[in-house]
Amino acid sequence: MSKIDLNGRVAIVTGAGGGLGRAHALLLASRGAQVIVNDLGDAADAVVAEISATGGKARAGKCSVADAEAVQAMVDAVLAEFGRIDILINNAGILRDKSFAKMELADFRLVLDVHLMGSVNCTRAVWNAMREQQYGRIVMTTSCSGLFGNFGQANYAAAKMGLVGLMQTLGIEGEKHDIRVNCLAPTGATRMMEGILPPEQLSKFKPELVSPAVLALVSEQAPKRAILSAGAGSFELVQLTMTQGIALGEAATAEAILQQWNALASRDQDFVPTQGFDQARHELRKGGFHFEA
Ligand SMILES: NC(=O)c1ccc[n+]([C@@H]2O[C@H](COP(=O)([O-])OP(=O)(O)OC[C@H]3O[C@@H](n4cnc5c(N)ncnc54)[C@H](O)[C@@H]3O)[C@@H](O)[C@H]2O)c1
Repeated sequence: MSKIDLNGRVAIVTGAGGGLGRAHALLLASRGAQVIVNDLGDAADAVVAEISATGGKARAGKCSVADAEAVQAMVDAVLAEFGRIDILINNAGILRDKSFAKMELADFRLVLDVHLMGSVNCTRAVWNAMREQQYGRIVMTTSCSGLFGNFGQANYAAAKMGLVGLMQTLGIEGEKHDIRVNCLAPTGATRMMEGILPPEQLSKFKPELVSPAVLALVSEQAPKRAILSAGAGSFELVQLTMTQGIALGEAATAEAILQQWNALASRDQDFVPTQGFDQARHELRKGGFHFEA
């Protein structure tokens, strides 16, 4: 396939002053995109300088993604200067890990504010421009922690799974405007991962080995509503499936559900629903109630 060319495209990468965001910004700029490097402070300037030194096009956009007004001002400035925004990579994030028993509500809210509301703020600020230009590529950064659970990360996991729901619905709403929304579930050796894996394993998870997944998700050929996981040069698709399940009809009892759990949970012929209503459709069909779609 021909090389992905981002010349003429304008991209915002949040939290791009370090870690994975920096690697994404460098790769997008190397493919010709005008990149807005968002982060809280001077780290953004350093990445802008790095991109400029290699002949790339970059500007800093310093603000907290949790501050909706500041995000809108950043996006307005980008639109005033470049006239469009093609790509948004919601990547900024923080951790406040503690077991749920010890977690303060303030830390729960803070993590939701940065990851979930931060992504909402940035997406909302670019949404109308993308609709008007009939083109947009948006990446939400989710995590295995949200998808599958991790001890001590209730706040982070809730935020990260919230982003999957946001992606699913915005993917549906954006479709007719060619706005494609996808999720990335990365593993990268960044300060977020320090102390979690031994150094020799951590060294395999170079951030720049995650960024090709992001480039694929923001290309013209991007998939729609995928959850793409990436780490150490490996890539997988995470899918939310529904089993065929059982149909108990009017005789349904809790006891019957538990007794038939293995049949209910069997993954034989499980499927990936394409929208929420598929559940009801599936249930009606199993109950023998046919209707026109
Ligand atoms: N590293 C991993 O293995 C891993 C795994 C799963 C998910 N993630 C996700 O990937 C993303 C990037 O993480 P990373 O590992 O590169 O971490 P990192 O800490 O190296 O980078 C995060 C960046 O976000 C910036 N940031 C924090 N709060 C911000 C705010 N309010 N506004 C703007 N910028 C802000 C930080 O300054 C930092 O530069 C995060 O969303 C994280 O949850 C990372």
